[in-house]
Formats: sequence, C-alpha cells, structure tokens
Amino acid sequence: MLTKADVMDKLLPSLSPAKSSHEHFAPSNIALCKYWGKRNAELNLPINSSLSVSLKDLGTKTSVTPIDQETDDIWLNGSKVSADSQFAKRISAFIDLFRLRQAQAFRVETHNNIPTAAGLASSASGFAALTSALNDAYGLDLAPEARSIIARMGSGSACRSLYQGFVEWRMGDRDDGLDSHAHAISTRWDGLCIGLVKIDVSEKSVDSRSGMQRTIESSHLYKSWPDQANADLIKLHKAIDSRDFTLLGSTAEHNAMSMHATFASSWPPLLYWQPESIKAMQSVWMLRDQGVEVYFTMDAGPNLKLIFEQQTLPQLLLHFPELEVVQPFGE
Ligand code: DP6
Repeated sequence: MLTKADVMDKLLPSLSPAKSSHEHFAPSNIALCKYWGKRNAELNLPINSSLSVSLKDLGTKTSVTPIDQETDDIWLNGSKVSADSQFAKRISAFIDLFRLRQAQAFRVETHNNIPTAAGLASSASGFAALTSALNDAYGLDLAPEARSIIARMGSGSACRSLYQGFVEWRMGDRDDGLDSHAHAISTRWDGLCIGLVKIDVSEKSVDSRSGMQRTIESSHLYKSWPDQANADLIKLHKAIDSRDFTLLGSTAEHNAMSMHATFASSWPPLLYWQPESIKAMQSVWMLRDQGVEVYFTMDAGPNLKLIFEQQTLPQLLLHFPELEVVQPFGE
C-alpha cells in the first residue's frame, strides 16, 4: 500500500531548505454532506464525496519558523504544548512529510478562534493553515489542489479548508489519491448564515477518526451511507444552483441525522449528543412547525450548527440568545 511519503514524492520531486517564517490563516468548514468513512486510512481517502461551507474569519492562524534545534516547539493559543501530547505528535508527524529528505525543526504557533476539538472542526482549519504556511516556508508555490491533497493527509476534512465559500471534496478513485481533493464552488449565497450553538466545548471522548473506524466496522446502517451521501450531494448542488434554501437546509439536516444514526448503531454504541443537544434540536423542529425556516447540522460532537437566512435571525435569537453567527458570503 502507498504511504503518505510516496505521495509526497510525487508532489514534491525536489525540496530546498526552509528559509523564513510564514503565517497563514485557514477557515473552519462545516460539512452539509459529511465525509464519513475511509477507503484508505493511511491517505485519508474517503468512501464518499462531501460538500461544505467555510466559516470565513473563524478558523486557525498558524505560523512556522525554522529553528536551529532537534525537535519542534509547538504552541497552541499562546501556550507551549508538550512534545508528548497527541496534538504535538500529530503536527510533528505531518511536518515530517515535508522534511523527508532533510532534518529541519520548526517553531509552530497555532491560534484557533474556534474551540479546539469540540466538533467545530479545528483540525480541518489547523492542517490547512499549516500546509499553506509550510508551502511558503519551503518556497514551494504549490497549486491549491496539491495543498488540498497534502492537507487531506493530515485530516480528511482539512482538504476543504483551503477554500472559502461552498467547497466540494470529490472522493476520486486513484490509489494514490491525487484526484481526491477539494475545489471551490463559485456560487455565492449572500445572507446565508451558520449559527453555532455551543453545548459543550470540552475535548470529545471519541474523536472523528476512531468514531469513523468503529462505525465502518460495526454499524449495519453504514452500508446505506455511501448511497445516501451521493444522493444528498446531488441535491445540495441543485439547491446551491437554484438558491433553494428549503432543499439546502433539509438535505443538510437529513444527512447529519443519517450519519448520527450510523454512530448510534455501531458497537459499542456511539452517541455524541447530550441532553442539551436534543433540546436544541427540538427547538429547531418547533420553530419550523411555527414557520421559521431553520435547519441544523452536527458533526462528531454535541454542538449544533444552525443553517438559516439572515431575515430569520431576530426570531432565532429569542430561542438561542448565545448564538454565534457567521455569514460565509457576507450580508
Ligand atoms: C463528522 O476530517 O476530522 O466532521 O480524516 O480522520 O482526520 P480524519 O477525520 P476528520 O473527520 C471529519 C468528520 C466530520 C464530517 C465532515 O467534516 O465532513
């Protein structure tokens, strides 16, 4: 089986030493059709294509500075992270892909303006920002597609965080994954809003990676997932093309609920919802019954992301006063 290093060899035939310090921002992204399941866990090649919307200014800013020592110095939100932590190990292992041919340690400073590991996809923006910063530090000038492929090997959903707006990650079918990367969908949707309902922002007990693995191995409902995801992707493209909000929101919510059903039917069962998550879902359904058009999506965590259009905001704030609102395309 091909390794990440084999893929890097294809993407970076030569590499000059890293010279200067570089900083990059990448947005977090929320999938409307989820990536759930890998056909190749080494390269993070997905079983289905997915589609997301990026969160504009919410995401991760990462700087990399070459340093003259043996090991990396990793900082998260202003604090130095232990080299033994999972976080630091994952970052250093990712940078190893760039330094296969020559040793070079880096000081890496990561700032998230979203809660880390709370189902708000900070690993996606993190690996995307790190990839772009390393691209600049090594003077690589890689095309966005190549950066998307590399970011994907850090964390699958990171390949979508290279772009703003609506983004599709086509699963591809090559063994080396060179056709499995994201691309931006040019259609804008002014006034579209994503509202973050924070239920619990502490570290989750089962991360997406292990959750995905468990679902594939033990959920009988997972068998129908790839077909559902493909059908949802077609509906989302149609919704975006025709600016059909009902189709967009209902497809995204149905897709998220279907993914959560595959978690619940895995063994041991996996449930990311907390009582407060269910209350929030019920509020959304109640609001819809009352004619307020709002939908939600959820990832591998207890928090909800509401999907609505700008004119609905005043009514939503009555029920969700703490709502943090992002307008991916502006007003
Ligand atoms: C539920 O991209 O975090 O957020 O590839 O193992 O790093 P790895 O998984 P990750 O999974 C994201 C799963 C999701 C759905 C999505 O963002 O599409």
